[in-house]
Amino acid sequence: MSDLDFVDFLEKSLKNHSRRAVDQKVWKDLIPNISFLAGGYGELESFNKLSQKISNIEDEIGEPVQCLFYISTPPEVFKPILENLGTSGLAKRSKQQFASKVIIEKPFGRDLESAQELNLVINRRFDESQVFRIDHYLGKETVQSLLVQRFANSIFEPIWNRNYVSCVQITVSEELGVGTRGGYYDQSGALRDMIQNHVMQLLALTAMEPPSSLDPESIRNEKVKALQALKPIVLDGPDPEVVRGVYTQGLVGDEKVLGYLEERGIPNESSTETFAALCLHIENWRWKGVPFYLRSGKRMAQKVSEITVQFKRPPEILFGRDDRFALGPNLLVIRIQPNEGVTLFLNSKVPGLETQLQPIRLSFGYDTTFGSNTPEAYERLILDALNGDGTLFIRGDEAETSWGLLSPLLDFWSEKKSSGLETYASGSWGPLASDKLLLSRGHEWLNEKINS
Ligand code: BG6
Repeated sequence: MSDLDFVDFLEKSLKNHSRRAVDQKVWKDLIPNISFLAGGYGELESFNKLSQKISNIEDEIGEPVQCLFYISTPPEVFKPILENLGTSGLAKRSKQQFASKVIIEKPFGRDLESAQELNLVINRRFDESQVFRIDHYLGKETVQSLLVQRFANSIFEPIWNRNYVSCVQITVSEELGVGTRGGYYDQSGALRDMIQNHVMQLLALTAMEPPSSLDPESIRNEKVKALQALKPIVLDGPDPEVVRGVYTQGLVGDEKVLGYLEERGIPNESSTETFAALCLHIENWRWKGVPFYLRSGKRMAQKVSEITVQFKRPPEILFGRDDRFALGPNLLVIRIQPNEGVTLFLNSKVPGLETQLQPIRLSFGYDTTFGSNTPEAYERLILDALNGDGTLFIRGDEAETSWGLLSPLLDFWSEKKSSGLETYASGSWGPLASDKLLLSRGHEWLNEKINS
């Protein structure tokens, strides 16, 4: 592209995708500073040219520039790009506030080994403080406010543990199928695409201990500790802790949709999972004995990202003994999206002469309280990376710990091919085996009930 074509492309993208009207003055000021340089990922020469171009700009403006390299490419070329950023000197352009920074898109590796290899390359070329492994879930307003809800309110901390919590459920479901991304998705599957990153991040933020400060490293240390305390998953035997499934034809809303194997780009013999559910255990003082149920899938009944903390039932003395009272457990539901908000379910008396109970909701919605002008996750994250704030990014050891837990499962599935791969109709809440995973442990998925 010529510089002008690139400006034109950006302008159209801004018009089509920006969540607010473009400020023409700001945009006009930016145009002369936009340019386009084409090059090959593996060609050192291209990186040298880029380096030269940046030096010329600095000479022109008479001050150092901040370089942020955003690697949003197929994962196979992450390594050559990182190596070339190093060899060309772009990785170590400047010190302190103007030090180069690099954002790396997911997937960060495809198992423990590849994530470790990638980290080795990164650490050879960059200091960890320059590296921003992005997970857009961490940029979502509701995910950030999870820390505030947990640690800025004194009522939650005393009950946020095995003495009061019966289980924690994290659901990240989508109505969409794989669409045009079949080629990528079939190499990935639900575990790599959603659970290893987004869902595990939600788990870490829900389960972590209070950090000693808001400093990025304190927060990330606590998240890593929570992930390190996860017990290896029981993969096989009479009561495995995992379920995987693939969607078949069905109705999503009113739309009749294809099954996964009929989607474009998906090989007939594919054994890739489009749904995964896990039961995890965190072996520490806070959580010992409390199951964390995680699930994520495509072509499910609703798009929902939700964390539900189910509290223990009150002792069966006054109301609990009698079915008439329909005493439900207290639930704290943190809705990441859509209808972002928090709901607390309490038991209450139905007005009338008889004593009848009914769960009621105390609800807070972001929209109704704060209006709907929340920044997109990527707006926040790119700004944080420019400012060198890694709080909302995944540290190298965090990525490795998460892969460390899931890699044995991926190996197990890959050996089994499609044996044990359940099916579920598009528009449902996943395979029956996922319901059984909870029922056999005395729980049930709650999203269906809460959102109906
Ligand atoms: C991406 C996955 O990371 O997250 C996609 O690769 C998925 O498969 C998307 O659709 C979901 O993001 P969100 O923000 O729509 O929940």
